[in-house]
Amino acid sequence: MKPTLDYQEINRELWNTKTAVHLTSEFYDLPGFLAGKNSLKPIELSMLGDVREKDILHLQCHFGQDSLSLARMGANVTGVDLSDVAIEKAQHLAKLTDTNAEFIQSDVLDFIGKTEKRFDIVFATYGTIGWLPDLEIWAKTVSHYLKPSGSFVFVEGHPVLWMMDEDVKDVKYRYFKSDPIIESETSSYTDGGQHKELKSVSWNHSLSEVVNALISNNIRINRLDEFDYFPYPIFKEKEERPQGHFRPIHHQDKLPLTYAIHGTKM
Ligand SMILES: C[S@@+](CC[C@H](N)C(=O)[O-])C[C@H]1O[C@@H](n2cnc3c(N)ncnc32)[C@H](O)[C@@H]1O
Repeated sequence: MKPTLDYQEINRELWNTKTAVHLTSEFYDLPGFLAGKNSLKPIELSMLGDVREKDILHLQCHFGQDSLSLARMGANVTGVDLSDVAIEKAQHLAKLTDTNAEFIQSDVLDFIGKTEKRFDIVFATYGTIGWLPDLEIWAKTVSHYLKPSGSFVFVEGHPVLWMMDEDVKDVKYRYFKSDPIIESETSSYTDGGQHKELKSVSWNHSLSEVVNALISNNIRINRLDEFDYFPYPIFKEKEERPQGHFRPIHHQDKLPLTYAIHGTKM
């Protein structure tokens, strides 16, 4: 059930503001992307395999770098995001790079019925479901849009990581979903990402909640992997070893930081 709290409007404003900040960040390396760099990380690349001619639905596509990277690899991509600024930028980047992709502004949880298409792959990565109050509707959406035998490729920050405070030192939040986490934010996870003070609304989702929502919506889980690193430099104090594997300085490799699920529509 969706909460009465207007999380859509609060988070849309938050992500509109963050998108503007992210566009100039080293973290997202837009100049590198424009010069042809693929923004996808090894975890999802190994799960995706050959995507040529595949129809892919990218949930929570942000400003489209990963979606357009998939399109450059030969896929037919549709990206969806709550932020109108992110969607406008994604459409602009598609034109600028002469890459064919469709982008639709929508809450993922309201997306059923907004396109008639069905997809070979539904894809979502890093920092997505924490913005969603209801994983039953999310999993139903994944299942609705997958063709029979289609693949769900999902990589996310581990719920244990999302339990930690800003310094990734102490436990601050519950592992299990409970009331919405309502906070004030003045910066993003990117380098130098300061922005005006804005409210955010988020939820932590345990692994069992994610897996059971998918199972009960006819997604067979083929693999569930956990990793002791995060592939983006999101930690304030961090170590990188080997290149591209980031860990918080306080806990190094003791915590699960990322997980990945590969599923098939039954
Ligand atoms: C951390 S970013 C996505 C990560 C992506 N891998 C990236 O870095 O490009 C989270 C995205 O989720 C979007 N978002 C938040 N809540 C949403 C919702 N309810 N429906 C659709 N998109 C949402 C935000 O606008 C933002 O673009």
